[in-house]
Amino acid sequence: MLNFAKQIAYEAGKLLVQRLGSAQISNKGDIDLVTESDIAAEQLIIDRIRSHYPRHGILAEESGEAVLIEGENGGWKWIVDPLDGTTNYAHGYPCFCVSIGVEHLGVLELGVVYDPMRNEMFAAERGQGATLNDRRIRVSEVEELNSAMLCTGFPYNVRERPDFARDFTNFTMRSQAVRRDGSAAIDLAYVACGRFDGFWEDGLNPWDIAAGVLLIQEAGGRVTNYEDQPLNIYTKKVVASNGLVHAAMLATLRR
Ligand code: IPD
Ligand code: CA
Ligand code: CA
Repeated sequence: MLNFAKQIAYEAGKLLVQRLGSAQISNKGDIDLVTESDIAAEQLIIDRIRSHYPRHGILAEESGEAVLIEGENGGWKWIVDPLDGTTNYAHGYPCFCVSIGVEHLGVLELGVVYDPMRNEMFAAERGQGATLNDRRIRVSEVEELNSAMLCTGFPYNVRERPDFARDFTNFTMRSQAVRRDGSAAIDLAYVACGRFDGFWEDGLNPWDIAAGVLLIQEAGGRVTNYEDQPLNIYTKKVVASNGLVHAAMLATLRR
């Protein structure tokens, strides 16, 4: 199943790159975009899953509940973001990916994040560790927030949420650096492989994080909500880290 997930992420990623710069763009909200590529990549992934695992449920960003078949799917659910980083993609900024997570009876079993611009395939299977292009990855060993490179993101309702600026300021003052990349799935994959030491965001959806959460857990890191409880991917607030800077991150969010 993991190889199949990698294969469809790879195919969808190829499609995204082929259409980069030429896909038509429309607005879902004020600043929330969708491109033809989001739709085409999602359709490709759904078609592949349907023909390979016809009884599995699928929760995909652009089709949402429409393809969520509950009940007779044996408890399997594919959670798909066909293009994470749509705003980047629409502007030709080369930071975006395909994210696919699979749950069985509510437990994350595998996750794949594929960045087609760098040809980087992050993958994890519960209990089997996490890999980048088939090489084992681990979270970083940075212990102090002061030396940590962090990343965050802003959801599309950021204009109604000035508290985002407060958290951003507090982390900027306490860490070595803060980045805002525009692709939560890549951000989480980068925590898993040690490029980032921590990540926080309020306002995420399950398709943004399903794969990345498992990558981090399998790479030895920690993912919780802002209250330090184990993460439920259907809630919005996520703190992810190498584990070592986690307490300091939670304390910063409480300020
Ligand atoms: C978005 C990206 C972004 C994050 C937003 C997400 P999309 O996903 O992951 O980094 O800050 O909260 O909605 O819309 O590009 O798939
Ligand atoms: Ca997304
Ligand atoms: Ca998306």
